[in-house]
Amino acid sequence: MDIRSRLKKDMKKDVAKFLSSLDFDRYIFEADIDCNIAHVQMLAEENIIDVEIANKIIKTLKELKKKGIKALDLDPSLEDIHMAIENYVTSKIGEEAGFMHIGKSRNDQVVTDLRLALKSKIEKLCKKLLNLIYKISKLASKHKETVMVGYTHLQHAQPTTFAHYLLAYANSLKRDYERLKDTYKRIDINPLGSAAMTTTTFPINRKTTTKILGFSSYFENSIDAVSSRDFIAETIFDLAMLATNISRICEELILWSTYEFGLIEIGDEFCSTSSIMPQKKNPDVAEIIRAKSSNLYGDLMSVMSILKALPHSYNRDLQEVTPHLWNSVNTIEKIIDIMEGMLSSIKINKKRGIELAKSNFSVATDIADLIVKKRKLPFRVAHKIVGKLVSKCIDEGIKPSEINSKILDEVSKKVIGKKLNIKDEELKKVIDPFECIKQRNIVGGPSPKAVEKSIISLQKYVKNE
Ligand code: ARG
Repeated sequence: MDIRSRLKKDMKKDVAKFLSSLDFDRYIFEADIDCNIAHVQMLAEENIIDVEIANKIIKTLKELKKKGIKALDLDPSLEDIHMAIENYVTSKIGEEAGFMHIGKSRNDQVVTDLRLALKSKIEKLCKKLLNLIYKISKLASKHKETVMVGYTHLQHAQPTTFAHYLLAYANSLKRDYERLKDTYKRIDINPLGSAAMTTTTFPINRKTTTKILGFSSYFENSIDAVSSRDFIAETIFDLAMLATNISRICEELILWSTYEFGLIEIGDEFCSTSSIMPQKKNPDVAEIIRAKSSNLYGDLMSVMSILKALPHSYNRDLQEVTPHLWNSVNTIEKIIDIMEGMLSSIKINKKRGIELAKSNFSVATDIADLIVKKRKLPFRVAHKIVGKLVSKCIDEGIKPSEINSKILDEVSKKVIGKKLNIKDEELKKVIDPFECIKQRNIVGGPSPKAVEKSIISLQKYVKNE
């Protein structure tokens, strides 16, 4: 099979290798066979080719699918998988194989294959992601009362629970899942029949191939169809965003597992040691995940840059887009798998969580809220009093648990010229971190009841997907 009759010289071997996409075409091997079968079946149905010839071609293609890619001659001079497959069919049934390329081009074929292969990859990824979300929700249900301090600016902010943090993770991943599902709609469009760029003079039926290949619709414009790679950029963005969200979780796992935080311990099976420092336990898995998210940004940037100044329809530059897609897909697949195991290996130091929540005035907002509720003062005034109270406690070495009505009144007299007369028992209640958590029984909040509702709705969501 020769498509170079126009040229007088063969391509040099190293040039052929340089141009070939065969290395990463393995991802579209099966999709290309399916695409060819659908096309040939349609050609026969429309009486464009003989049914007998069509059957021979389809039978050979099905055999090839069974044998797998190893049955192909992957000589780089064949350029790509499309030629290698046609070459295989030709080697089996002779030149009648040439009928399979009527009204078809590698330009519409490759983008059809990519869409088909990506659809099944995304279905797989979405399942994995849902599973991860579910696992996190399960872990959260064990930690509804596991007190810790929440951070803003990485400084102690307000008491919360480990479950509340876990649900933050799960909900961000749910959006990543939804983004992928939405992108899927734009992948699920059939370009086949666009041929090189202007369709064909043969009376092909694009609806037939759309149906056989299981696409939801077909491209309305054949130039747009063969030009389209925005679905790849969009997918990589979705995956990069997902990797970013996972990377942020990893950052917290790394931080919280330090001696200084001492909040969690990552399972040994997800940690490394040092070749020189015998005491070390390093969170390398979380670190590598954190770094790998950057590789996906690289993929995204490369794809955007390749596409930016390309004229419409097919340009060979488009071939260089593809490896970035598979790189991103493969990377995220591994990240999700490993993340799931690592999260379930984590042990929480509950004592340390309470200790941190109690030690550094993370209950200050609750004292201000109490003043507002009891004395009907504007929040700004209460904020000022408590700000001064915290400052005094720090100066005089008074612990949050030692704050009482007397100390508060000393401060309020200075700030607003009068005592607040808030009872010690009332103060004691809001100085207890777990009480602060329980009081936040607002949707999305950390109270065990609110968290339980979030877990239920998340798990329902996962089950209904
Ligand atoms: N290997 C090519 C790619 O990945 C397939 C399409 C080639 N088309 C062409 N006219 N050379 O994009």
